[in-house]
Amino acid sequence: MTDAVRRHDPLVKGFASDNYAGVHPEILQAVALANGGHQTAYGDDVYTAALQDVFRGHFGPAAEVWPMFNGTGANVVALRSMTAHWEAVICAESAHIHTDEGGAPERSAGLKLLPVATPDGKLTPELIDRQAWGFGDEHRAQPKVVSITQTTELGTLYTPEEIRAICDHAHGLGMVVHLDGARATNAAAALDVPLRAFTTDAGVDVLSFGGTKAGLMFGEAVVVLDPGAVRGLRYLRKSAMQLASKMRFVSVQFEALLAGDLWLRNARNANAMALRLAEAVRDVPGVRIPRPVQANAVFAILPGDVTARLQKRFRFYTWNEATGEVRWMTAFDTTEADVDAFAAAVAEEMRLSPA
Ligand SMILES: Cc1ncc(COP(=O)(O)O)c(C=O)c1O
Repeated sequence: MTDAVRRHDPLVKGFASDNYAGVHPEILQAVALANGGHQTAYGDDVYTAALQDVFRGHFGPAAEVWPMFNGTGANVVALRSMTAHWEAVICAESAHIHTDEGGAPERSAGLKLLPVATPDGKLTPELIDRQAWGFGDEHRAQPKVVSITQTTELGTLYTPEEIRAICDHAHGLGMVVHLDGARATNAAAALDVPLRAFTTDAGVDVLSFGGTKAGLMFGEAVVVLDPGAVRGLRYLRKSAMQLASKMRFVSVQFEALLAGDLWLRNARNANAMALRLAEAVRDVPGVRIPRPVQANAVFAILPGDVTARLQKRFRFYTWNEATGEVRWMTAFDTTEADVDAFAAAVAEEMRLSPA
């Protein structure tokens, strides 16, 4: 028994973020399984030891996994381990590291970001070249890392071949590649390929692997695919405050996610619900879907009054006040009934809108 009180309605869901979802029941079971008794703290426990093989099963025999608390921390530790003090990171202007981490890469890691405008959140070798210059010039922060996000912040997907072209280009310039995979499982499910197809096999050097959006309570991991691309990760994780003392509870969650097919079931559901939502609203007069729906994000352009009324009924974010673009995210626990109720509400509010 517990003295805690349930303070929310577990049946209410929205479309704000895959982070708004709860914890998958199989993950909670795994946490309970790892409970009881004492285990060595700070990662010297049997669950963290077992996790190395789980990740190697997905990413190949050279992969090393470093569990962390959150995605911002994983990105900061990964990028810091890949750069010397005078080096810089090329990323899309829309990258989470640039737009949504409160300046953490700059503030806590002292990193210089070199952002590039993109039409769809995706870098290409040509776009990378807009910032990959000045090598050897002491006046310019030296480009060292290309950081890409899969799936992107704009809901788009890189193919494995596109990532391979980026990695070949970066490596040819003496640079290394980081992939922010907060939604890597959604990408693998959408592409219908193994996780390694667009990471290890495409030449990515270091990955921030997302657990939270995939169904964990919390937990992300830095996965090193090329040990030669990083320095001092062990020390950087601690000094970046990402070393969990009770790490067994992060590790066992990842084991539950990745040892079987929970990751794929969760990602497939989230992706399928996004497609269902897009299809349901696409033909509603006045609604525009301006971007391709390739994983678990749907972007839509709606009249402001409709957005305001809908947001009183369902949680979701306005992406761009100026254009009226909103973002709808689906999660592992979004159901067909959730989507249908929301799509019906969109149609209803559109009918009430003065044309
Ligand atoms: C692309 C991307 N990277 C990283 C993260 C992880 O961030 P957090 O620090 O909130 O776990 C997110 C979460 O929204 C994200 O969308």
